[in-house]
Amino acid sequence: MAFTSHGMVLGWYFCVVALLVTAVKGNDTPRGPRFSRTPPPSVSFSNSSGATIDCAAEGDPLPTVRWITEIGDQVRSDVSHLVHDRYDGSLVFVPFRSEDFRRDVHDTTYRCKASNSVGTIISPPVKVKAALSKSNYEMRFESDKHVIRGNAALLQCPVP
Ligand SMILES: *[C@@H]1O[C@H](CO)[C@@H](O)[C@H](O)[C@H]1NC(C)=O
Repeated sequence: MAFTSHGMVLGWYFCVVALLVTAVKGNDTPRGPRFSRTPPPSVSFSNSSGATIDCAAEGDPLPTVRWITEIGDQVRSDVSHLVHDRYDGSLVFVPFRSEDFRRDVHDTTYRCKASNSVGTIISPPVKVKAALSKSNYEMRFESDKHVIRGNAALLQCPVP
């Protein structure tokens, strides 16, 4: 009965493999995403510095972290020179010239979104506001005022 004993050995072998697979899978029960770094409720920054807003999530499988806009869309790729998702889950605002200010990019709300095969979670809104830096005040004294030597003079500095 060589055939039967061979079959039994094979059967035993498959049983051991099945047990091993179960043991390995038992260590890695899928877990839904959970934020390990939640973004702050608001972020202000200057056009000259730009900003990086962190967001990270854990779970099994490791969640994918993306940012969405107020209306729930992904951050658009045609504005990636102004704002984009980074590989590590951060949202990056690139320094920009004053003429590149866009309300729908620089003065709006974003949310961080983490997904894996178990589910998706979305952060509270992050209110973002970029201000144009005012480092280049043009200071100009009104020099056409005549003052008697030794007296105090009022100099006016109009700031644009
Ligand atoms: C930011 O805006 C100011 C003017 O408001 C400008 O002078 C400055 O160059 C801008 N920064 C950058 C990085 O372009």
